[in-house]
Amino acid sequence: MKIIKAKDYNDMSRKAANIISAQVIMKPNAVLGLATGTTPIGAYAQLVKWYNKGDIDFSEVTTINLDEYKGLDGTHPQSYRYFMNEHLFNHINIDINNTHVPNGKDEDSDHACEEYNRIINKAGGIDLQLLGIGLDGHIGFNEPGTAFELGTHCVKLTESTIQANSRLFDSIDEVPKEAYTMGVKTIMQARKVLMIASGANKAEILKESFFGPVTPQVPASILQMHPDVILIADKEALSLIE
Ligand code: F6R
Repeated sequence: MKIIKAKDYNDMSRKAANIISAQVIMKPNAVLGLATGTTPIGAYAQLVKWYNKGDIDFSEVTTINLDEYKGLDGTHPQSYRYFMNEHLFNHINIDINNTHVPNGKDEDSDHACEEYNRIINKAGGIDLQLLGIGLDGHIGFNEPGTAFELGTHCVKLTESTIQANSRLFDSIDEVPKEAYTMGVKTIMQARKVLMIASGANKAEILKESFFGPVTPQVPASILQMHPDVILIADKEALSLIE
């Protein structure tokens, strides 16, 4: 594993965007695994800037996102499809048909998950998977205790996640109770993994994930077994790792 120390959030974002753009330059038809959340917003903004300068061409790129709420349509402002369109896809020359997010509107979980696995396989797997990390070590929506061997599957959101997410919805009843997520197995099959993290609140879980025991109780800990992982984190997030 390679750990790259960034000065701050902006520096982390630029460094991550550099690695993503290098991947696209080296393989114009690269398959990028993408994440939502607060952490990657700066990296996406940087990619848009470089695209506008003419430095990156996304016309042949395919993207495969980690997760989506079950029940939300892509036009819902809290859906992850909406997030990706707003922060990245609407601002670059990617073919929107080559951007994939699990289909939240498919009420048939088995069908939705099989379909997503099929899309990932058809794309030939993921060249570079971008990941954030949850405070409990989750990656995608793979919460502590999730079996490592799962592909795309449907998860029930924990009461604390529903509570936490309710701030983004008009009422707690509107918060989806389930989500579709790429499984740990699929994440581990990505040829390269790029995790980004920022802020002191991520320090403890980064230490546990990369220097503690490998256990489903800390889903990100499995990345210790991946042959090509880069962690880019700012000083605060790396404060417990030296
Ligand atoms: C998002 C995702 C999540 C986030 C994680 C960290 O697609 O899969 O695992 O990466 O919850 O979120 P932030 O970046 O908001 O701290």
